Amino acid sequence: MNALQIENLSLVINRRTILDDVSFSLEKGAFAAMCGRNGAGKSQLLRCIKGLVKPDSGEILIDNVVADARTRMKKVALVFQNADMQIVSQSVEKDIAFGPENMGLDDIEVRRRVEGALSLMGLEDKAKQRPQSLSGGELRKCAIAGIIAMEPDVILLDEPFANLDYPSTLTVMRALISLHEKGYTILVVSHEAEKFLAHTDTLFIMDNGKLKEQGRSSDIFRRLIDYDVYIPEKAGFEDLSWLKH
Ligand SMILES: Nc1ncnc2c1ncn2[C@@H]1O[C@H](COP(=O)(O)OP(=O)(O)OP(=O)(O)O)[C@@H](O)[C@H]1O
Ligand SMILES: [Mg+2]
Repeated sequence: MNALQIENLSLVINRRTILDDVSFSLEKGAFAAMCGRNGAGKSQLLRCIKGLVKPDSGEILIDNVVADARTRMKKVALVFQNADMQIVSQSVEKDIAFGPENMGLDDIEVRRRVEGALSLMGLEDKAKQRPQSLSGGELRKCAIAGIIAMEPDVILLDEPFANLDYPSTLTVMRALISLHEKGYTILVVSHEAEKFLAHTDTLFIMDNGKLKEQGRSSDIFRRLIDYDVYIPEKAGFEDLSWLKH
């Protein structure tokens, strides 16, 4: 079963082609990476999938059924490139509760989801803290926890490791791995292949609005070099993880 399927997606802004006939699918439970140069179209692609930007052509299916923008807004979660900027609540737990409350869930269910998300992200002892007082890594985890609490079908993350120090990168990475183990379907857009690629099963490489390469991460990771994505020269696939050093 495909959790997500993109068919012939194109996007033109001001007569410039931003996405050019992009097609791919993600199996349920996949942990996929998407890499590519600055301006390749990765963020715009995620925005189209989420339903924030209307593509000029193409279709998006969730669980093998064509899903309109409204449905995708509900079923697809997107952690933005600057997710930390969007946290405005009085406390971490209130911030995480915001999404489930807006879904109209009752108090008991909201509480259950907030506690589950706090524990999955290792934020239990920060629940009452003001988001403004969190570190960069903790804020990123808070943003991801808010998404998990909505129990989405597909989780898209745009540059989840950007600006994080070594321990925070590991924390966010462990959280993504545990989401993967719980069966979530995950697509991570990142330039930092050497930090996490070893944990992914699928790799997509975007360039100039086109999906240029797709396949098993372990089979095609060397092709990243052709697209200016850094991986250490002699690294084997298993080496592409900060958790293993
Ligand atoms: N509103 C807009 N108007 C015009 N061009 C836009 C607009 N939004 C995005 N673009 C262009 O679309 C292209 C793709 O942008 P996008 O943000 O998707 O790239 P990206 O692959 O995420 O890059 P990065 O790695 O730097 O985050 C860029 O050339 C960008 O300038
Ligand atoms: Mg981007």
